Amino acid sequence: MLRSALLNVMIKAARKAARTLNRDFGEVENLQVSLKGPANFVTSADRRAEQILREELSTARPGYGFLGEESGRYEGSDKTHTWIVDPLDGTSNFMHGIPHFAISIGLEREGTIVAGLIYNPVNDDLFTAERGKGAFLNETRLRVAGRRRLADSVIACGLPHLGRGDLALGAREIAAVQPQVAGLRRFGAASLDLAWVAAGRFDAYWDHNLSPWDIAAGLIVVREAGGFVTDLNGQEATPTTADVLAGNEMVHGEMLKTLKAA
Ligand code: IPD
Ligand code: CA
Ligand code: CA
Repeated sequence: MLRSALLNVMIKAARKAARTLNRDFGEVENLQVSLKGPANFVTSADRRAEQILREELSTARPGYGFLGEESGRYEGSDKTHTWIVDPLDGTSNFMHGIPHFAISIGLEREGTIVAGLIYNPVNDDLFTAERGKGAFLNETRLRVAGRRRLADSVIACGLPHLGRGDLALGAREIAAVQPQVAGLRRFGAASLDLAWVAAGRFDAYWDHNLSPWDIAAGLIVVREAGGFVTDLNGQEATPTTADVLAGNEMVHGEMLKTLKAA
């Protein structure tokens, strides 16, 4: 498959960072772990992976800005481009030895995400998208699922937990959605939840309190696969949208009604 120079840069950086993540995942029990907040672990693996991504991306595109979960924001000399990076999305999974986590890289150009990559280094699932060029899982073009009814849909979500999120709202939302759908899932990596909507594995996904690095890449991967990504009022999501709903047109619309009423 012929890929653009831009995607090649992103893929090379992700594969290099993935090598250290995979090594650290193999030794997860020996990792030095520090607490950033309740249930919010920062591992040395996060930081190492982000360092590699920053070096690789800034060597290939000097001047672009960088916003990373671990190291924060760096202004570049080129004010029109910013990499938005989560070096390890799904930290709790990683820490618990659950092989469901990803590297997420979005490229923002003048406020719009123009390229995205989401890579699970354990199973080698590589999701990519560029504006106007479609979304792919490895070499295969992606299209959101065609299901039209909630009754046939498998829906992914985030869940509030100790020290994080609005437990009462979460309980109301689950109570509203649960009886209407074929299945609910909470897999714990926002970037992969979005990628899996793009791949038609999930019919929709919603979550609260997300950060730009959780969704930057996912926004374009879902949209290039023909899906919708909005806030919970139905407005187009941007990287700074915290409460997010993604899905195909029909299921997205049904979920929006259900969540608004919760
Ligand atoms: C988290 C995951 C999770 C989502 C949280 C994120 P992290 O990212 O994406 O699925 O529900 O809101 O913070 O901390 O594992 O990079
Ligand atoms: Ca994240
Ligand atoms: Ca992270």
